[in-house]
Amino acid sequence: MTGVQTCALPISACGHIAQLLGNKIEGNSIVDYFSAGLLHDIGKLVLYKLDESLYNEAYIFSVKNNINSRQGEEEYFGINHTDVGYWIAEKWGLPSNLSFSIGFHHKPEVIKDPDGEKHAAIIQLADLVSNFSQMDFGTEFVHSIPKDESAWGILQQYNNDLEGMDFERFVMGIQDEVSEIQKIVQMMKS
Ligand SMILES: [Fe+2]
Repeated sequence: MTGVQTCALPISACGHIAQLLGNKIEGNSIVDYFSAGLLHDIGKLVLYKLDESLYNEAYIFSVKNNINSRQGEEEYFGINHTDVGYWIAEKWGLPSNLSFSIGFHHKPEVIKDPDGEKHAAIIQLADLVSNFSQMDFGTEFVHSIPKDESAWGILQQYNNDLEGMDFERFVMGIQDEVSEIQKIVQMMKS
């Protein structure tokens, strides 16, 4: 499988999980997190379209060197998918929260606009959950997320119900819904 093929299914899962998280955290949110979940990595598709074999090399390089995909892209393209995606989102005139989520889903903490920061944090969390959702929700999964990423801390600041809550408890609370999404994604695979 190529890098883009590998991420295609988690991307579709990410749309569903983003909406699920948005609804859980904001209480039946009317905000369209699904679109942001689907589009957040659009920069990857652009780089892939630009040079398919180079993108695959960048992907293999990042896996072999145990670095994140952005570092691999920068090594091979001189730019990463979030910068490409943000540029496109701005060119297309997408709503600002959508642009923020595309451009900053790996570092929502740098966004100064509170709505944009929260939106991008939900997408970062959805991205992480969808990437890991092919695994059972074991201890490794639960404890690996909040340590490295800012999303959970950001969302706790915006939602009193999350303040002081273990990430583990939150994940266990959505496990059934995430399992349903996993089933849908598995069906799409076959
Ligand atoms: Fe990304």
